[in-house]
Amino acid sequence: MQVFKSAQELSIFHNSVFSNGKSLGFVATMGALHEGHLALAAQSQRENDYTIVSIFVNPTQFNNPEDLAKYPRKDEQDLAMLAEINVDAVFLPSVEEMYGHEVSSESIDLIGLDKGMEGDYRPGHFQGVATVVRRLLKMIKPTRAYFGEKDYQQLRIIQHVAEIFQLDSIIIGVETQRYSSGLAMSSRNFRLSQKAIDEAKIIYETMHWAKENYRKYRPAELKMLIIERFAESSLELEYIDFADDTDMHKIEEWQDAKSIRIYIAALSEGVRLIDNLRIS
Ligand code: PAJ
Repeated sequence: MQVFKSAQELSIFHNSVFSNGKSLGFVATMGALHEGHLALAAQSQRENDYTIVSIFVNPTQFNNPEDLAKYPRKDEQDLAMLAEINVDAVFLPSVEEMYGHEVSSESIDLIGLDKGMEGDYRPGHFQGVATVVRRLLKMIKPTRAYFGEKDYQQLRIIQHVAEIFQLDSIIIGVETQRYSSGLAMSSRNFRLSQKAIDEAKIIYETMHWAKENYRKYRPAELKMLIIERFAESSLELEYIDFADDTDMHKIEEWQDAKSIRIYIAALSEGVRLIDNLRIS
């Protein structure tokens, strides 16, 4: 497994990959890897000749400096996990490599995909994501790039960024990987106690219940019932929303969209957990 730290080193890798017409799959991560990330890498390995994974904790997507400081960093363990599954290359750039001396986001027209949910609760977050993913895709030039549905709003935004900048990569969404309790795998789970991990299963249980029962209620009523459910738990609900899968607009009536997802963000022991599930 090769480890690259600069765009220059990457270009040597490109020469060996693309000179014989092979395909390159790419998985962008912020490290602290878990089975969810590895599922993305495995799909890339199945569908491409080579796979490269990036590990970069992107400062511009953290609207809260404390959250950035507390983000788990496990480079050595991550590299061992990636070597174990035989990834071909890892891109591990410094902040300077990605941003030079100006560590700030570009201003990219996200056509409202960044409205609602994470966009409302983390101002500037998606500009940071769009900026870094655009740069990573330009540097890595993958044939296909894999992103998790766990961050569905992010996935839609990245598809849009690839489209408007005519980046020559196919953006592929991968199903959310969960523990048997239903809890979505996340690097943030590393900061939770076992008790909090057990209690966090209410997020998936609630989404699953909503999927089974949503037709019995109007969206606003269902929202109220979910707020009440969370009020009885140890998790602090930040938002619960229903949005259109394509343009991300909020759903007032079920017939407003063909395919709809439920989105939940909740805090447990000060850690922000997000999840979503397609309900129709
Ligand atoms: P990170 O949170 O490390 O996630 C990297 C990729 O793994 C994202 O595409 C995310 O959706 C996916 N992922 C995380 N948990 C998952 C799960 N349980 N099941 C399936 N996929 C999962 O998302 C980011 O990093 C950053 O915003 C990034 C795109 C790298 C830009 O900085």
